[in-house]
Amino acid sequence: MLDLSAKPLLGKTALLTGAARRLGRACALTLARAGADVGITFRTSAREAQQTVVDLSGFGVRAFAFHCDVTDEASVRAMIKEAGRELGRIDILVNNAANYETVEFEKLTVAQWDSIFASNTRGPFLVTREALKHMGRARPGSAAKSPPEAKIINMGSLGGIQPWPTHAHYSCSKAALHMLTKVMAKALAPDVAVNAVAPGMIDLGEKSAAAFMRKMAKQTPMLRNGHAEEIAEAVTFFASAPQFITGQILVVDGGLSL
Ligand SMILES: NC(=O)c1ccc[n+]([C@@H]2O[C@H](COP(=O)([O-])OP(=O)(O)OC[C@H]3O[C@@H](n4cnc5c(N)ncnc54)[C@H](OP(=O)(O)O)[C@@H]3O)[C@@H](O)[C@H]2O)c1
Repeated sequence: MLDLSAKPLLGKTALLTGAARRLGRACALTLARAGADVGITFRTSAREAQQTVVDLSGFGVRAFAFHCDVTDEASVRAMIKEAGRELGRIDILVNNAANYETVEFEKLTVAQWDSIFASNTRGPFLVTREALKHMGRARPGSAAKSPPEAKIINMGSLGGIQPWPTHAHYSCSKAALHMLTKVMAKALAPDVAVNAVAPGMIDLGEKSAAAFMRKMAKQTPMLRNGHAEEIAEAVTFFASAPQFITGQILVVDGGLSL
């Protein structure tokens, strides 16, 4: 477990997309526990977002919720403007919002393909492009001796590394996001370090997934599935890591991919 008692992110601000519930919420709470002021975005989970803001505030940090559809450029622009105003600056951006869908390859439609790519790949690109305006990047030719050290963490997936035959669009969208992570790491250096966390099977307690989760745990070297907090700690690691760590895809899967 990361020792967050020293509040390594005190004075930093973080923005996480799609973080009203599930893994995004867990990441937001851990970043707040580490001392960061946190803004989360939601699309449909307004009630959960308000509760998450209350829970984030319990760590003594400033917390905000912003509505955003990451597939809609105007919505992303408006959200980032509001987030920049409320947070003051964005030091850490976590591109978490995504969609997941199981479809037989032969039945996969163009609309399903495009929709998954719009949220999982184009979304992180759009949010990042707009967020950079508030990420305090050193201007070219600026006299600043030490440039600001901002971080972007993309939520990838084991499905972006291994081919999942009933998730062609999802697997490809996450593989593209892993490449986008590396492209951005080069394009945005040295001011911004860009990394990705690629979760494997994470047990979020869904009853409908219980049998599948039991099966996957047996196939995993660690003999269990992951916990949301383990993904949150990986995100927090990148959020507080040396700027020299960039362009990396950290698979958090208990060894399932080995
Ligand atoms: N759960 C896992 O086991 C697992 C495994 C591998 C990778 N991952 C990745 O880890 C991340 C989080 O996983 P999760 O299972 O917690 O995700 P999730 O519940 O499927 O989605 C997270 C949030 O994304 C938001 N979202 C979806 N489409 C959006 C859009 N067009 N605009 C804005 N927000 C949108 C939703 O917000 P609203 O609820 O507000 O609509 C949702 O709550 C995702 O990137 C996922 O692909 C998860």
